[in-house]
Amino acid sequence: MEIIIVANEEEVGRVAADKVIEGLAGKATPVIGLATGSSPLSLYAELSRRAKAGEVDFTHALGFALDEYVGIDPAHPESYRNVINRTVTEPLGMAPERVRVPDGSAEDVQAAAEEYDAAIDAVGGVDVQVLGIGSNGHIGFNEPFSPFSSRTRVEILTPQTREDNARFFNSIDEVPTHCVTQGLGTIMDSHAAVMVIIGEGKADAAAAMIEGPVSASMPASVLQFHPNCTVVLDEAAASKLKHADLFRTRAAIREQYSHLA
Ligand code: F6R
Repeated sequence: MEIIIVANEEEVGRVAADKVIEGLAGKATPVIGLATGSSPLSLYAELSRRAKAGEVDFTHALGFALDEYVGIDPAHPESYRNVINRTVTEPLGMAPERVRVPDGSAEDVQAAAEEYDAAIDAVGGVDVQVLGIGSNGHIGFNEPFSPFSSRTRVEILTPQTREDNARFFNSIDEVPTHCVTQGLGTIMDSHAAVMVIIGEGKADAAAAMIEGPVSASMPASVLQFHPNCTVVLDEAAASKLKHADLFRTRAAIREQYSHLA
């Protein structure tokens, strides 16, 4: 894992955008994996700014979202289909048909989930997977004790996740109980992963994921086995890292000798 600690959310967006663009470079049809939630908003805003300035072009890219609620009205403003449209598809200038979101309202959600996984494989896999982390260590909606080898599937949300996401709804009762999410195995197949972590509320999860043991109780820790994973976090999110100084030193050397590694 490459750990990059920066001053604030805006800087997280800029540094993560560099990493995403680097991972998509040179691909005829770049494939980007998309997280929803608040963590990647500064990243998407920065990608949008660069697209509007003509520095990058996402019109030929394909997008695959990580997850969706099951049973939510697709027209609901907080359905991930709508969130992705608002925060990614439109700002990046992508045609809606080039950005897929798991279908949480399919008649057979599990069959649709399996088809989704196959569709990712069919385009050669995800070139860069954008990730956030839940306060309980989930990535996508792979809650604690999700199998490390899991593929896209229907899952039950933990009470913690429903509570965390209640801020997007009128009350916790409106937060769906189920979701469909890319599996940990699906995420681990991505060619590169860029995780963004913002704020003190994520400091415990960040420290456990980066410095703790790889454990089913901390699903994001599986990323320690990812061959090309970058974690960009702000000072607040990094505040519980025991090895922050080491990470800072390594990042500075890496930048100074960028031709070496
Ligand atoms: C959503 C997703 C989740 C979020 C996580 C953090 O697509 O993949 O894993 O990244 O719940 O959410 P925020 O960023 O809202 O704190």
